[in-house]
Amino acid sequence: MTGNAPQTGRRNGSSPAVRALVGLAIVAALTAALFLAVPGDFYMWAKAIHVIAVIAWMAGMLYLPRLFVYHADAPAGSQQSETFKVMERRLLRAIINPAMTVTWVFGLWLAWQGFGFQGGWLHAKIALVLAMSGVHGYLSASVRRFAEDRNEKPARHWRIVNEVPTVLMIAIVILVVVKPF
Ligand code: HEM
Repeated sequence: MTGNAPQTGRRNGSSPAVRALVGLAIVAALTAALFLAVPGDFYMWAKAIHVIAVIAWMAGMLYLPRLFVYHADAPAGSQQSETFKVMERRLLRAIINPAMTVTWVFGLWLAWQGFGFQGGWLHAKIALVLAMSGVHGYLSASVRRFAEDRNEKPARHWRIVNEVPTVLMIAIVILVVVKPF
């Protein structure tokens, strides 16, 4: 790995998981400060944090399978393949995992505080978010398989997988904004 820092995954001295934990600690501190400073408006602040986390989670969920499309065609052991491994691991640990955690924590709090977990749209939304979390789990396991050069799925498979979070995201946003039932 001489002169090729991205392959180490620790170029800036801290791992993606450590940076994710620092990020989560900052969100927790910010949340506590907001709760004390603006208790009357806290619901709207919580919703803002929820939407910011959703955007980060979705950005990662759309980008990761896109990386797999190209990684699937890179020969095992090649420079290209090793670079994809680092990109995938960092994206998963530094962005996707913490963003999903924050989305769930704030989403559940909003659902309890704002709606007492009542409403057809909310139940349907939670069901679709569970499906999204299942896709997350599948992508997470796939990062491991790619890291061990065990991926056997062709690029076409990853192109199709790439569409699943998009479709779920569209349905989830319509449910929560329009609340059709
Ligand atoms: C466990 C997961 C989740 C739960 C329980 C949840 C629940 C909620 C609740 C109760 C609200 C407040 C609605 C309101 O005040 O009218 C909200 C807002 C929102 N959620 Fe989620 N959510 C979750 C995940 C997601 C995901 C995965 C997405 C997108 C892909 C998403 C997108 C949004 C958006 C865009 C808003 C703002 C809607 C508005 O202000 O009109 N949520 N969520």
